Amino acid sequence: MTVQPMEMPGIGTAWLITGYEEARAALTDPRFSRDDRKAPEWLHQHAEQHRIDSSLGRNMLDCDPPEHTRLRQVVKKAFTPRRIEALRPRVQQITDDLLDAMSGHDEVDLIEALAFPLPVTVICELLGLPAADHADFRAWTAGLIQSDDRELTRTSGKALRAYFENRIAGIELDDLPEDEQPDLTRALLRASGDEGRLTREELIDMLMLLLIAGHETTVNLVGNAVVTLLGNPDQLALLRSEPALVPQAIEELLRLDGPLNAALPRITQADVEVSGVTIPAGNMVSIVISVANRDPETFDDPHRVDVTRTDTQHLAFGHGIHFCLGSALARLEAQVAIGGLVARFPELSLATTDLQWRPNPMIRGLVSLPVRTGTRP
Ligand code: HEM
Repeated sequence: MTVQPMEMPGIGTAWLITGYEEARAALTDPRFSRDDRKAPEWLHQHAEQHRIDSSLGRNMLDCDPPEHTRLRQVVKKAFTPRRIEALRPRVQQITDDLLDAMSGHDEVDLIEALAFPLPVTVICELLGLPAADHADFRAWTAGLIQSDDRELTRTSGKALRAYFENRIAGIELDDLPEDEQPDLTRALLRASGDEGRLTREELIDMLMLLLIAGHETTVNLVGNAVVTLLGNPDQLALLRSEPALVPQAIEELLRLDGPLNAALPRITQADVEVSGVTIPAGNMVSIVISVANRDPETFDDPHRVDVTRTDTQHLAFGHGIHFCLGSALARLEAQVAIGGLVARFPELSLATTDLQWRPNPMIRGLVSLPVRTGTRP
């Protein structure tokens, strides 16, 4: 069954789309809206109540064209594969420094030592945010995303919003030397000020989205990838002997164990037929990419890890107009981190059999990942 209704207490019927072809088609079909303001009143109220937090505001991920097109247009140039590839030497340098710091320690928590600091450093440098603020971002984002304590969620969202408000208030656009490239915060501030392409609110919503999306997901991709590889020593050995397989391996690990467990939410704007089943207009739909990525109709032997696999057209970054803006960055970071780790620590092993997974059902990621590096001081 690739489409099925599910009764959700207090909400009514939600439809699950789990087949790969059906999921891909729904993600490009404008009848599936991402904008919860277009939901029927009862569903809209529910969505508002359960929004992660209203202080997260509204961003490109929460709206349909033409609003979505305008917001994405303002920032998309900063994330083209060419612009991201230019960051490779810096991503390599940050990774090398983190790996150097791990070396000589018998046991480390890989989330603390590599998977978290790499993406947070990169996104903060892109946004021009000081390294000294990383710990605050981590606490606020954790409060926003991981917590089921609604008060903590609200205060964390408020704190992050206030941070960005102060940050942009302190920027003078004119004081940047001519020969220096503006960071993304300045570029967006210019787009909101001189060019009038963004309101102040939209600017802050966008910065919050980029900061959260920029590190909350990649940390889990790196952590999950390491667990899967250590659990499949033949695949790890293959990757060690053929480092050129790393990019392909990352695609396979995204397919099998991407950082988003959950479903991409949509609301039907008309009756839509999917695989012979009619989903009525105004219904909530969950496009379950983690299941679609293991659809046996699309992927040969779908649960097997195969770093040489070439049929890896997964949906881990979504598809269609909301296709992940940061996919090239996430791929670059994961390739450099996993490639470096595998090459530097030939005796890497898990230091526990009792892995702690994060309680948030939306995110598949580890609380910590204790590993033995196989190196001595
Ligand atoms: C959208 C996954 C990393 C920024 C999305 C979507 C998915 C996704 C599935 C589409 C959601 C939907 O259609 O409902 C991931 C995964 C990542 C990752 C698995 C890491 C492994 C990043 C990074 C950034 C980023 C590093 C930014 C620096 C965004 C943005 C959107 C988005 C801005 C909204 C795009 C739009 O609405 O047009 N991501 N993401 N993501 N992602 Fe990512």
